[in-house]
Amino acid sequence: MLFASALSTAFTELLDIEYPVVSAPMADVAGGRLAAAVSRAGGLGLIGGGYGDENWLRREFDRAGDARVGCGFITWALAEQPALLDLALSYRPAAVMLSFGDPAPFAAAVRASGARLICQVQDLDQADRAVACGADVLVAQGVEAGGHGCGRRTTMTLVPEIADLLAARDSTIPVLAAGGIADGRGLAAALMLGASGVLCGSVFYAADEALTTPAARAVVTAATGDSTCRTGVYDVVRGYRWPAGHTMSVLRNAFTDRWHGAEAELAAAGDPVGAQYRQAVADADYRTANVTVGQAAGLIRAAASAGDIMAGLTAGAARLLGSRSGG
Ligand SMILES: Cc1cc2nc3c(=O)[nH]c(=O)nc-3n(C[C@H](O)[C@H](O)[C@H](O)COP(=O)(O)O)c2cc1C
Repeated sequence: MLFASALSTAFTELLDIEYPVVSAPMADVAGGRLAAAVSRAGGLGLIGGGYGDENWLRREFDRAGDARVGCGFITWALAEQPALLDLALSYRPAAVMLSFGDPAPFAAAVRASGARLICQVQDLDQADRAVACGADVLVAQGVEAGGHGCGRRTTMTLVPEIADLLAARDSTIPVLAAGGIADGRGLAAALMLGASGVLCGSVFYAADEALTTPAARAVVTAATGDSTCRTGVYDVVRGYRWPAGHTMSVLRNAFTDRWHGAEAELAAAGDPVGAQYRQAVADADYRTANVTVGQAAGLIRAAASAGDIMAGLTAGAARLLGSRSGG
């Protein structure tokens, strides 16, 4: 089978899945339906544990039903509520992904549970630390990515550099590329760069099963990669205490135009602006509310089911990789 041979990697073997595609554990966006749909389509779907809400997490694991899914946490937020990891592990996830903080305090519990430990990193130092604490898989996240990130490394250079770093240590830990991948070209390119697969967020933000509104999905499909910015304004208005250096990729709108670069003024503005923001979220008014995607927005032309997104990614990549080898 063309697909099986072109897209079978160290990562698909390790996770015992068909295709080397993971849907990101997007806070408030990646619930159980999305994760289950991605896993049922042959990839690995991750539920977004986000900033930590026990009831939300239970509900979304329940919604995933009997699909074999995993879960991801924002590590600094998990450190404030470590019991959420036990809750997640009680659902016997296939994998737990940790991003944005020190994974070491949680690594042993994840691995002892039988779940694979996936660590998302943004530079070589973090890659080193993740390997030292026993990561089974690394995700190399470039600055093109949707949602939060830090530093300035791009997917194009970070992925092969981390692949080389692992090879130099005779490590067989698979690397996934994250940031800017939304179609078969991106998946094929990631494999050429030395990745064993991809982790995609933005393209699944526009999936029918995502916990996003139809209006937000329509905004994404009309956007180009030029419409994004990296900013802290939505963290200020939501009161999230992200560690220094982290920014969030969103589509530019009237809110980012007003407040980006004026974060101190925004913080001082206090509740009236917070209330406006919350109202805009409730009204699905994306002149003020955030549409959290990265530069891949320009490659997302239509909302689609997660199954169709998976089929597009995998068939496109298999075709490109097959034609390259004459197969
Ligand atoms: C809406 C959204 C929310 C995200 N939330 C999280 C999160 O809670 N935890 C996390 O590890 N990564 C999160 N990410 C980042 C992804 O893990 C991943 O690095 C990114 O989506 C990959 O780039 P792409 O968006 O170009 O596919 C989020 C991404 C998006 C688009």
